[in-house]
Amino acid sequence: MKMQQRTGPFVWMRKTFLVVLTAILLLSAATCGSQATAAQPSKEPVQEMTGNEAPAEEPATEEEPTEMTTTQEPAATGVFDLEKGTVLLNSGYEMPVLGIGCFALSDAQAENSVYWALRDGYRLIDTARIYGNEAGVGRGIRRAIDEGLVTREDIFVTTKMWTSDYDNGDAAVQASLDRLGLDYVDLMILHHSQPSNDVQAYQAMERAMEAGKLHSIGLSNYYEPEDFDRLVDATSILPALLQNETHPYHQSTEMKEHIAQYGTVMESWFPLGGRGNTQILFNDDTIASIAAAHGKTSAQTILRWHLQAGNIAIPGSSNESHIAENFDIFDFSLSDEEMAEMTAIDRDDRFADY
Ligand SMILES: NC(=O)c1ccc[n+]([C@@H]2O[C@H](COP(=O)([O-])OP(=O)(O)OC[C@H]3O[C@@H](n4cnc5c(N)ncnc54)[C@H](OP(=O)(O)O)[C@@H]3O)[C@@H](O)[C@H]2O)c1
Repeated sequence: MKMQQRTGPFVWMRKTFLVVLTAILLLSAATCGSQATAAQPSKEPVQEMTGNEAPAEEPATEEEPTEMTTTQEPAATGVFDLEKGTVLLNSGYEMPVLGIGCFALSDAQAENSVYWALRDGYRLIDTARIYGNEAGVGRGIRRAIDEGLVTREDIFVTTKMWTSDYDNGDAAVQASLDRLGLDYVDLMILHHSQPSNDVQAYQAMERAMEAGKLHSIGLSNYYEPEDFDRLVDATSILPALLQNETHPYHQSTEMKEHIAQYGTVMESWFPLGGRGNTQILFNDDTIASIAAAHGKTSAQTILRWHLQAGNIAIPGSSNESHIAENFDIFDFSLSDEEMAEMTAIDRDDRFADY
């Protein structure tokens, strides 16, 4: 599905916004340090554009800003740092760009996958209320913390509010925290667009962010710029992230370009094509030949492509060796030519129908 391009004054406003946003973030990073600065969630420039309400209060955080030495450059929002494996969100928090996905995992499988992932160096975990495994995810996290592998502050936990909870968003946030056994989650996103009541659900997440229960908030499954803008225009805090089906056959190029004006980053679900579809991508001639050239697997090649293309990736797995394999992608890179070859295999075609 191709998106309509906006031109004229909109492009000028977007450019102006990006300049203002970059200046604000550079100033903020320079004064507060480059990590977890909990900066104002960046709605301000958009409010100037739209005339919306005053921005919400700064969110509470338990994380200490990292000291910045004179040799460190302040991070820019939305720019992937593949040395550190992180991206700075428009909320001011740093987010790891590679994580473990927990869709279709039982509670017990999720516990093990999360534990193995944290042991192997992952710091990002993606779950959802509808997966029914938030409790298992919480147990996996506590196992890793109890063994001294990580601290709570080291890791970034994402969960999602399900559509049937949109009328009771405040309770839904607290219920997820209770199941996970956490005081806060790093990111909560609405699971699907639902025009009848997603604005009020998002506003509940805004309240939870102001109360320190959520550090960042975002969206999932918004596939049209107009639908994304509908929610942005009706709310106060910009989405930090959009999680959509994104992989080499559905590269989400236009949507990524659209959300970039808000400093919103793309996160890929089905990064490997999803259960039942992975072999289609793994056996693609272009992917298989790039993988062979680097002595890597197709899965590793696809994941490396995601990161270089500016997509946060959260491959799902209940297999201990796949989890280790999927994290072993920081010792090689695709050339510009290989990235162009990957771009050329886009079919703008989704595997899922939701
Ligand atoms: N927002 C949404 O609506 C939405 C929808 C779907 C998913 N998600 C999120 O996105 C995450 C990723 O999506 P997904 O898990 O559905 O699909 P995926 O990551 O594209 O694919 C998962 C499949 O890949 C296999 N796999 C993983 N690593 C492999 C490797 N190195 N070699 C061979 N096979 C490998 C897994 O099998 P094994 O278990 O055998 O490794 C599993 O069958 C989910 O887990 C979930 O957190 C969000």
